Amino acid sequence: MFSDKDIAHFSKLETPFYYYDLNLLKSTLNACKKAADVHQFHVHYAMKANFNSKVLAKIEAAGFGADCVSGGEVNKAIEVGFKNEKVVFAGVGKSDKEINDALDKDIFCFNVESVQELSVINELAEKKHKIAKVAIRINPNVDAHTHANITTGLDENKFGVNSWDMQACADVLKVSANLEFIGIHFHIGSQITNLDVYKNLCVRVNEFAAWFEDHGFKVTVLNVGGGLGIDYHNPNQQIPNFDAYFKIFADFLTIKPYQEVHFELGRALVGQCSSLISRVLYVKNGKKKNFLILDVGMTELMRPALYQAYHKIENISQPQTPNAERSTKYDVVGPICESTDCFGKEVELSETFRNDLIAIRSTGAYGEVMASNYNLRETLRYAYSEE
Ligand code: LLP
Repeated sequence: MFSDKDIAHFSKLETPFYYYDLNLLKSTLNACKKAADVHQFHVHYAMKANFNSKVLAKIEAAGFGADCVSGGEVNKAIEVGFKNEKVVFAGVGKSDKEINDALDKDIFCFNVESVQELSVINELAEKKHKIAKVAIRINPNVDAHTHANITTGLDENKFGVNSWDMQACADVLKVSANLEFIGIHFHIGSQITNLDVYKNLCVRVNEFAAWFEDHGFKVTVLNVGGGLGIDYHNPNQQIPNFDAYFKIFADFLTIKPYQEVHFELGRALVGQCSSLISRVLYVKNGKKKNFLILDVGMTELMRPALYQAYHKIENISQPQTPNAERSTKYDVVGPICESTDCFGKEVELSETFRNDLIAIRSTGAYGEVMASNYNLRETLRYAYSEE
């Protein structure tokens, strides 16, 4: 919900821009931290969701670690102040250079996604006379019941080591003097709204932890990944139910006294703190359809074009009217030369005019990080709430 002051502020700015409500971000982070602390759970923020420097600085200050998926993310995490020992490096295709750089930085742990990667990290660590801490990312074959493009924990996905390769991992670990096995890692998918799927994940985590311990490995870290969804239909219901989420793991994981439980949340922490603000360039009334053509496109927010993702669209210049006569259905589209450059079809809005401000809500996660400059678009602009 935007205040009159916000709207007056927006109307003076050049559009489009990502608006960040840093106060909301702070409240969300505090709510998550408080809920995790009840169970002594550790949360590494999945930086891929948003690596805006101001956002990262708040997350670091709130006491989170960083979960990175590239050398670039590792470097940036450390640059903005995350302690090296709070940085985790995951990713199905880490290059030798990225591994070497992360070894030099003495990060907390590599989440390893294949048997071959274990051997490569061991070799590179040996050359540097270092011991690399590793966790095995296991593909648990648990269905996250989310969008097919963002599910990751099924046998047919490219991520993680499959269950039938555990013995091969154990064999490599036993002969790798420069690896220190610390635990196991899972991530089954993103935008998970049915929390019950995490119960199935817990069952698998318990099984794999027992398997490693039975084979002589001490499992000190149980990393269950991220994936907690947000309510895109109610962007004003802003803070996810972290208590309910963490409670599932507290109830269903078998946690030994020496074990730490780690999480990698992205979307749930940053999703609701941002909206993409744009202006209407043109209103085009057709026989069958009315179009609103915005000055923002799939180049700034890719999710609708890529996954048919829903983001709530609001006309913040025209007060929402209950008078049905003054509301119209519009296809809300961008200026990019692609038919998929559409933010929503048949969106009901109050009658809309050229230069009205349009807010596309819940764009804090996988928004600006997935932007491109296709069509040689201008670089992104930002605005921040006062703190
Ligand atoms: N850990 C791992 C290993 C991951 O692959 C991901 C996300 C996360 C943690 C964080 O997941 P989250 O808590 O944010 O759901 N671009 C897509 C989402 C891709 C998610 C990729 N992995 C989207 O726009 O919906």
